[in-house]
Amino acid sequence: MTATPLSPSVARDRSAMAATGQTLLDVQHLEKYFPIRGGLMSRVVGNVKAVNDISFKVGRGEVVGLVGESGSGKTTAGRAILRLVEPTGGQVIFNGTDITKLSKGQMRDYRREMQIIFQDPFASLNPRMTVSDIIGEAMQIHNLHPGRERIDRIAELLQRVGLRPEHMGRYPHEFSGGQRQRIGIARALAVDPSFIVADEPVSALDVSIQAQVVNLIQDLQEELGLTVLFIAHDLHVVEYICDRMIVMYLGRIMEIAPSRELNRNPKHPYTEALLSAAPVPDPTIKRQRIILEGDIPSPINPPSGCVFRTRCRYAIADCANIVPELREVAPDHFKACIRDDIL
Ligand SMILES: Nc1ncnc2c1ncn2[C@@H]1O[C@H](COP(=O)(O)OP(=O)(O)OP(=O)(O)O)[C@@H](O)[C@H]1O
Ligand code: SF4
Ligand SMILES: [Mg+2]
Repeated sequence: MTATPLSPSVARDRSAMAATGQTLLDVQHLEKYFPIRGGLMSRVVGNVKAVNDISFKVGRGEVVGLVGESGSGKTTAGRAILRLVEPTGGQVIFNGTDITKLSKGQMRDYRREMQIIFQDPFASLNPRMTVSDIIGEAMQIHNLHPGRERIDRIAELLQRVGLRPEHMGRYPHEFSGGQRQRIGIARALAVDPSFIVADEPVSALDVSIQAQVVNLIQDLQEELGLTVLFIAHDLHVVEYICDRMIVMYLGRIMEIAPSRELNRNPKHPYTEALLSAAPVPDPTIKRQRIILEGDIPSPINPPSGCVFRTRCRYAIADCANIVPELREVAPDHFKACIRDDIL
């Protein structure tokens, strides 16, 4: 999947308007294992280690990209942060509160604050509900904008995402993919959240409209001061919208750096390979193409030591024995790799 890259000329100086310096989300040692059951007694015989001890922070008003190949654990991480799947371990500290400890009732107020835009705008909208029901549902659950005010708010949201208020009574099948994703965005915004997980919000859309939807999310983020975790396969889709990027592989974080720095000066061999596989929108950047041999290993039995070692062109014997810590190798630039003599 490749989006129309956003022109560097429209890329704004994100550092000027980025985070306020306050941490909104602090993810600590988050884990999500899916048990595998087998045998007559349906015992747990193993675990899919979809998210395996990840830690990172997101500042208030910041846009952070979460990238990596299919199966690296991005969606599971996003959902575990929102407790749409229950984490197996670790903490998710949102605005100072560890939400993994909250009861279902206590979680309700936080649900309003934390919303998600799903990858597939076809599957994520109930075909039997009208647009106004879809957008109004969350308002109803949280008792927001009662009575006539609700209709006005829905109309306003539709306009804000580039749809017409008259569309309110229509059903999802009457819209194109891009329009449906706009409805999904309006639904996420309906309860005035401060934090949004956007899980590959454009990857199911036609390439020709991907940039429009990314631009819409960027405009809304700036206007509303949203904090966004933007999940994507393709680094170039998120490069211009994100302040920083987190690179995941096989349930673990490989590298974290400001977007431009990550793109121009990757320090982790996995990021280097990912970037080399993606088309470069900036012709001044020359890259050698690195082919990643073989498939991503199974998260049931990940390789010992560094999980990337079976595909890493720089691997040495120690890589099988040492689990690399994520450590700061340049200001605000972290990598999980034991070698400093490469890249
Ligand atoms: N409900 C589940 N039960 C068992 N395994 C799961 C479940 N959900 C995800 N997995 C596994 O966890 C791993 C991570 O999956 P996840 O969907 O989080 O990856 P992803 O990075 O979002 O991939 P993609 O780019 O394809 O969306 C995969 O190996 C996947 O098969
Ligand atoms: S620790 Fe070893 S295998 Fe892992 S990325 Fe670094 S060099 Fe490659
Ligand atoms: Mg996913």
